[in-house]
Amino acid sequence: MKHTKNILYIANWKTNPVTSKEAVTLYKGLLREFSLYKQKLIICPPSLFIPILSKEKGKNIQLGLQNTIPQDKGAFTGQVSLAQAKEFKIGYVIVGHSEVRLSGDTDEVINQKIKYILKNKLTPILCVGEKKRDEGHEYFSFIENQIKNGLAGISKNNFSNVIIAYEPLWAIGSTAKREATPDEFYEIKIFIRKIIQDVFGVKGSQVPHIIYGGSVDEKNAKLFIEEGSADGLLIGRVSLDVKKMTQLIKSVE
Ligand code: PGA
Repeated sequence: MKHTKNILYIANWKTNPVTSKEAVTLYKGLLREFSLYKQKLIICPPSLFIPILSKEKGKNIQLGLQNTIPQDKGAFTGQVSLAQAKEFKIGYVIVGHSEVRLSGDTDEVINQKIKYILKNKLTPILCVGEKKRDEGHEYFSFIENQIKNGLAGISKNNFSNVIIAYEPLWAIGSTAKREATPDEFYEIKIFIRKIIQDVFGVKGSQVPHIIYGGSVDEKNAKLFIEEGSADGLLIGRVSLDVKKMTQLIKSVE
């Protein structure tokens, strides 16, 4: 089936690969494959590799940051700002990834970052997701708070410039407990849309795109898009493998 909607693929390379040479090879491989399709791929490499990767030109591929601080410059050891990254034509910024939340980013900090990203006319990708699924369904209110606090004070007309990635922590990475199902994603997608409507009064085409992330691979990608109705996918490990990424995009097309 050919998709009429534009599916967004976000590749989160985390702290991979090790050398800039490997990064360029991987980037070029993905560039070659994705140029055959109309779907868009956003690659978020380690920021150290961004200057070199930004020299490679290609259709449908854009660079993104894995994180930012909410200031342009100053005494923030080890951090990267948008003012620094802008020169390299960054389009997107991941915020609130669970691995970053673990090292101390609160919802309030994430909210400041989102406002800073939007002020710079870039697209924030807000990651939300629970640590575990409890029988009392507390995880719904956990996600609700992440959304309410993360997007607090953002003007209505900016919502369509935001992407929300639902990434349940129990389904992420090589230590994942199990894979999430497309139905589980779909339920959360509806829930998030309802929060956006009820809390912020934002509806229809103004509602952010809601994508899925957590052990996405060439076997389950199509299911999340078709059965789960995901607007896109946030891909970790598999985005480091050109062959698997090629199979993934082919399976979805
Ligand atoms: P994974 O990572 O695809 O390797 O599970 C996803 C993420 O952490 O964004």
